[in-house]
Amino acid sequence: MGKSKYNRILLKLSGEALAGDDKFGINNDTIFQIAEDVASAHKTGVQIGIVIGGGNIFRGVAASTKGMDRASSDYMGMLATCINALALQDALEKMGLQTRVQSAIEMAEIAEPYIRRKAIRHLEKGRVVIFSAGTGNPYFTTDTAAALRAMEINADVIMKATKVDGIYDKDPAKNQDAVKFDAIKYIDVLNRGLAVMDSTAISLCMDNKLPIITFNLKTPGNIKRVVAGEKIGTLVS
Ligand code: GTP
Repeated sequence: MGKSKYNRILLKLSGEALAGDDKFGINNDTIFQIAEDVASAHKTGVQIGIVIGGGNIFRGVAASTKGMDRASSDYMGMLATCINALALQDALEKMGLQTRVQSAIEMAEIAEPYIRRKAIRHLEKGRVVIFSAGTGNPYFTTDTAAALRAMEINADVIMKATKVDGIYDKDPAKNQDAVKFDAIKYIDVLNRGLAVMDSTAISLCMDNKLPIITFNLKTPGNIKRVVAGEKIGTLVS
Protein backbone atom coordinates (compact mmCIF):
# COMPACT_ATOMS: atom_id res chain seq x y z
CA MET A 1 0.00 0.00 0.00
CA GLY A 2 1.54 3.35 -1.09
CA LYS A 3 1.52 6.32 1.21
CA SER A 4 -0.31 9.54 0.49
CA LYS A 5 1.62 12.75 -0.03
CA TYR A 6 -1.39 14.71 1.21
CA ASN A 7 -3.56 14.75 4.29
CA ARG A 8 -6.74 15.95 2.59
CA ILE A 9 -7.66 16.43 -1.06
CA LEU A 10 -10.59 17.75 -3.04
CA LEU A 11 -11.24 15.66 -6.13
CA LYS A 12 -13.17 17.40 -8.89
CA LEU A 13 -14.98 15.05 -11.25
CA SER A 14 -16.84 16.36 -14.27
CA GLY A 15 -20.31 15.01 -14.95
CA GLU A 16 -19.08 13.90 -18.37
CA ALA A 17 -16.57 11.63 -16.65
CA LEU A 18 -19.48 9.48 -15.47
CA ALA A 19 -20.86 9.14 -19.01
CA GLY A 20 -17.72 7.28 -20.15
CA ASP A 21 -17.96 6.53 -23.85
CA ASP A 22 -21.69 7.22 -23.82
CA LYS A 23 -22.59 10.79 -24.73
CA PHE A 24 -25.08 11.12 -21.94
CA GLY A 25 -26.11 9.78 -18.55
CA ILE A 26 -24.23 7.47 -16.21
CA ASN A 27 -22.24 4.55 -17.58
CA ASN A 28 -22.22 1.71 -15.08
CA ASP A 29 -18.75 0.35 -15.88
CA THR A 30 -17.27 3.85 -15.83
CA ILE A 31 -18.71 4.85 -12.47
CA PHE A 32 -17.49 1.59 -10.90
CA GLN A 33 -14.04 2.14 -12.40
CA ILE A 34 -13.94 5.62 -10.87
CA ALA A 35 -15.20 4.26 -7.53
CA GLU A 36 -12.49 1.60 -7.55
CA ASP A 37 -9.86 4.27 -8.21
CA VAL A 38 -11.17 6.45 -5.39
CA ALA A 39 -11.21 3.43 -3.05
CA SER A 40 -7.61 2.51 -3.84
CA ALA A 41 -6.52 6.15 -3.34
CA HIS A 42 -8.42 6.24 -0.03
CA LYS A 43 -6.46 3.21 1.19
CA THR A 44 -3.31 5.35 1.23
CA GLY A 45 -4.83 7.19 4.18
CA VAL A 46 -5.75 10.42 2.43
CA GLN A 47 -9.02 12.17 3.30
CA ILE A 48 -11.15 12.71 0.19
CA GLY A 49 -13.82 15.30 -0.57
CA ILE A 50 -15.42 15.16 -4.00
CA VAL A 51 -17.20 17.83 -6.03
CA ILE A 52 -19.07 16.44 -8.98
CA GLY A 53 -20.44 18.22 -12.04
CA GLY A 54 -23.69 17.55 -13.85
CA GLY A 55 -22.92 18.03 -17.55
CA ASN A 56 -23.72 14.40 -18.41
CA ILE A 57 -27.32 15.08 -17.44
CA PHE A 58 -27.87 18.78 -18.06
CA ARG A 59 -25.65 21.52 -19.43
CA GLY A 60 -26.84 24.77 -17.88
CA VAL A 61 -24.64 27.07 -19.94
CA ALA A 62 -25.54 25.34 -23.21
CA ALA A 63 -29.26 25.70 -22.44
CA SER A 64 -28.84 29.38 -21.63
CA THR A 65 -27.18 30.00 -24.99
CA LYS A 66 -30.32 28.58 -26.59
CA GLY A 67 -32.51 31.12 -24.88
CA MET A 68 -33.27 29.56 -21.52
CA ASP A 69 -32.89 31.85 -18.55
CA ARG A 70 -29.33 31.38 -17.22
CA ALA A 71 -30.34 31.21 -13.57
CA SER A 72 -33.03 28.57 -14.24
CA SER A 73 -30.71 26.48 -16.37
CA ASP A 74 -27.98 26.70 -13.74
CA TYR A 75 -30.41 25.48 -11.07
CA MET A 76 -31.27 22.53 -13.32
CA GLY A 77 -27.55 21.83 -13.64
CA MET A 78 -27.20 21.89 -9.84
CA LEU A 79 -29.97 19.31 -9.53
CA ALA A 80 -28.13 17.18 -12.08
CA THR A 81 -25.06 17.16 -9.81
CA CYS A 82 -27.25 15.71 -7.04
CA ILE A 83 -28.24 12.78 -9.26
CA ASN A 84 -24.55 12.14 -9.98
CA ALA A 85 -23.65 12.46 -6.30
CA LEU A 86 -26.16 9.78 -5.32
CA ALA A 87 -24.96 7.47 -8.09
CA LEU A 88 -21.34 7.97 -7.03
CA GLN A 89 -22.22 7.45 -3.37
CA ASP A 90 -23.84 4.13 -4.26
CA ALA A 91 -20.81 3.01 -6.29
CA LEU A 92 -18.35 4.07 -3.57
CA GLU A 93 -20.32 2.24 -0.89
CA LYS A 94 -20.31 -0.91 -3.03
CA MET A 95 -16.50 -0.63 -2.84
CA GLY A 96 -16.77 -0.66 0.96
CA LEU A 97 -16.16 3.05 1.54
CA GLN A 98 -18.14 5.07 4.03
CA THR A 99 -19.61 8.15 2.42
CA ARG A 100 -21.78 11.17 3.07
CA VAL A 101 -23.47 13.39 0.49
CA GLN A 102 -23.95 17.04 1.39
CA SER A 103 -25.99 19.37 -0.76
CA ALA A 104 -25.61 23.13 -1.15
CA ILE A 105 -29.35 23.31 -1.85
CA GLU A 106 -31.40 21.96 1.00
CA MET A 107 -33.18 18.72 0.20
CA ALA A 108 -33.13 17.02 3.59
CA GLU A 109 -34.95 13.88 2.43
CA ILE A 110 -32.20 13.16 -0.09
CA ALA A 111 -28.95 14.46 1.40
CA GLU A 112 -27.47 16.23 4.38
CA PRO A 113 -27.29 19.99 4.04
CA TYR A 114 -23.82 21.39 3.47
CA ILE A 115 -22.34 22.16 6.88
CA ARG A 116 -18.64 22.89 6.77
CA ARG A 117 -17.73 21.69 10.25
CA LYS A 118 -19.74 18.51 9.80
CA ALA A 119 -18.05 17.83 6.47
CA ILE A 120 -14.63 18.17 8.13
CA ARG A 121 -15.69 15.80 10.93
CA HIS A 122 -16.86 13.22 8.36
CA LEU A 123 -13.50 13.49 6.60
CA GLU A 124 -11.61 13.05 9.86
CA LYS A 125 -13.62 9.87 10.45
CA GLY A 126 -12.47 8.52 7.10
CA ARG A 127 -15.71 9.10 5.22
CA VAL A 128 -15.62 10.28 1.63
CA VAL A 129 -17.75 13.43 1.44
CA ILE A 130 -19.45 14.22 -1.85
CA PHE A 131 -20.47 17.87 -2.20
CA SER A 132 -23.45 18.29 -4.51
CA ALA A 133 -25.49 21.19 -5.96
CA GLY A 134 -22.39 23.26 -6.76
CA THR A 135 -22.20 26.40 -4.62
CA GLY A 136 -25.99 26.59 -4.53
CA ASN A 137 -25.82 29.73 -6.66
CA PRO A 138 -26.42 30.26 -10.37
CA TYR A 139 -23.59 31.80 -12.43
CA PHE A 140 -21.00 29.73 -10.53
CA THR A 141 -19.58 26.58 -12.07
CA THR A 142 -18.87 23.32 -10.28
CA ASP A 143 -15.16 24.13 -10.76
CA THR A 144 -15.71 27.21 -8.62
CA ALA A 145 -17.62 25.04 -6.14
CA ALA A 146 -14.58 22.73 -6.05
CA ALA A 147 -12.24 25.65 -5.34
CA LEU A 148 -14.57 26.99 -2.64
CA ARG A 149 -15.11 23.67 -0.89
CA ALA A 150 -11.39 22.84 -1.12
CA MET A 151 -10.61 26.02 0.74
CA GLU A 152 -13.38 25.55 3.26
CA ILE A 153 -12.22 22.06 4.20
CA ASN A 154 -8.55 23.11 4.16
CA ALA A 155 -7.65 20.67 1.40
CA ASP A 156 -3.97 20.54 0.46
CA VAL A 157 -4.73 20.41 -3.24
CA ILE A 158 -7.51 20.25 -5.84
CA MET A 159 -7.21 17.24 -8.11
CA LYS A 160 -9.05 18.01 -11.30
CA ALA A 161 -9.73 14.80 -13.18
CA THR A 162 -10.21 15.36 -16.91
CA LYS A 163 -10.24 13.57 -20.25
CA VAL A 164 -6.71 14.71 -21.16
CA ASP A 165 -3.28 14.10 -19.64
CA GLY A 166 -2.85 17.64 -18.35
CA ILE A 167 -2.74 21.20 -19.64
CA TYR A 168 -1.51 21.82 -23.19
CA ASP A 169 -0.63 25.07 -24.93
CA LYS A 170 -3.44 24.33 -27.41
CA ASP A 171 -6.19 21.77 -27.75
CA PRO A 172 -4.38 18.40 -28.12
CA ALA A 173 -7.45 16.85 -29.75
CA LYS A 174 -7.18 19.33 -32.65
CA ASN A 175 -3.43 20.06 -32.74
CA GLN A 176 -0.85 17.30 -33.09
CA ASP A 177 1.96 19.68 -32.09
CA ALA A 178 0.30 20.69 -28.81
CA VAL A 179 2.83 20.76 -25.95
CA LYS A 180 1.96 19.67 -22.42
CA PHE A 181 3.02 21.72 -19.41
CA ASP A 182 4.36 19.84 -16.39
CA ALA A 183 3.79 22.93 -14.28
CA ILE A 184 2.30 26.34 -14.94
CA LYS A 185 1.47 29.47 -12.94
CA TYR A 186 -2.15 30.49 -12.26
CA ILE A 187 -1.58 33.83 -13.94
CA ASP A 188 -0.32 32.14 -17.13
CA VAL A 189 -3.42 29.94 -17.23
CA LEU A 190 -5.53 33.10 -17.03
CA ASN A 191 -3.46 35.15 -19.50
CA ARG A 192 -3.31 32.37 -22.08
CA GLY A 193 -6.98 31.56 -21.61
CA LEU A 194 -6.19 27.86 -21.13
CA ALA A 195 -9.30 25.77 -20.61
CA VAL A 196 -8.44 24.19 -17.26
CA MET A 197 -11.09 25.64 -14.98
CA ASP A 198 -13.07 28.84 -15.41
CA SER A 199 -11.37 32.10 -14.44
CA THR A 200 -13.37 32.50 -11.20
CA ALA A 201 -12.11 29.12 -9.95
CA ILE A 202 -8.51 29.80 -11.02
CA SER A 203 -8.55 33.27 -9.41
CA LEU A 204 -9.92 31.87 -6.17
CA CYS A 205 -7.14 29.26 -6.07
CA MET A 206 -4.51 31.88 -6.97
CA ASP A 207 -5.63 34.29 -4.24
CA ASN A 208 -5.57 31.51 -1.65
CA LYS A 209 -2.46 29.69 -2.93
CA LEU A 210 -4.28 26.41 -3.43
CA PRO A 211 -2.47 24.16 -5.93
CA ILE A 212 -4.40 22.39 -8.68
CA ILE A 213 -3.27 19.17 -10.34
CA THR A 214 -5.04 18.21 -13.55
CA PHE A 215 -4.67 14.67 -14.82
CA ASN A 216 -6.36 12.05 -16.96
CA LEU A 217 -9.08 10.14 -15.16
CA LYS A 218 -9.40 7.57 -17.92
CA THR A 219 -6.15 5.83 -16.99
CA PRO A 220 -7.04 3.41 -14.19
CA GLY A 221 -5.07 4.05 -10.99
CA ASN A 222 -4.29 7.68 -11.78
CA ILE A 223 -6.07 9.10 -8.72
CA LYS A 224 -3.86 6.98 -6.46
CA ARG A 225 -0.75 7.95 -8.44
CA VAL A 226 -1.44 11.66 -8.00
CA VAL A 227 -2.28 11.15 -4.32
CA ALA A 228 1.03 9.32 -3.85
CA GLY A 229 2.83 12.33 -5.32
CA GLU A 230 3.74 10.84 -8.71
CA LYS A 231 4.36 13.62 -11.17
CA ILE A 232 1.69 13.04 -13.77
CA GLY A 233 -0.56 15.64 -15.35
CA THR A 234 0.04 19.36 -14.84
CA LEU A 235 0.54 21.28 -11.60
CA VAL A 236 -0.94 24.77 -11.44
CA SER A 237 0.57 26.76 -8.57
P1 GTP B 1 -21.50 11.19 13.28
O1 GTP B 1 -22.42 11.96 14.15
O2 GTP B 1 -20.16 11.83 13.13
O3 GTP B 1 -21.39 9.73 13.58
O4 GTP B 1 -22.06 11.33 11.78
P2 GTP B 1 -23.24 10.56 11.07
O5 GTP B 1 -23.31 11.15 9.71
O6 GTP B 1 -23.10 9.07 11.13
O7 GTP B 1 -24.46 10.95 11.98
P3 GTP B 1 -25.87 11.41 11.61
O8 GTP B 1 -26.74 10.91 12.70
O9 GTP B 1 -25.85 12.88 11.33
O10 GTP B 1 -26.23 10.69 10.23
C1 GTP B 1 -26.63 9.37 10.13
C2 GTP B 1 -27.04 9.12 8.68
O11 GTP B 1 -28.10 10.01 8.31
C3 GTP B 1 -25.93 9.37 7.66
O12 GTP B 1 -26.03 8.43 6.63
C4 GTP B 1 -26.21 10.76 7.14
O13 GTP B 1 -25.75 10.96 5.81
C5 GTP B 1 -27.73 10.79 7.21
N1 GTP B 1 -28.20 12.17 7.42
C6 GTP B 1 -27.83 13.04 8.40
N2 GTP B 1 -28.47 14.22 8.25
C7 GTP B 1 -29.26 14.09 7.16
C8 GTP B 1 -30.17 14.98 6.47
O14 GTP B 1 -30.38 16.12 6.83
N3 GTP B 1 -30.79 14.46 5.37
C9 GTP B 1 -30.57 13.18 4.94
N4 GTP B 1 -31.21 12.79 3.84
N5 GTP B 1 -29.73 12.35 5.55
C10 GTP B 1 -29.09 12.78 6.63
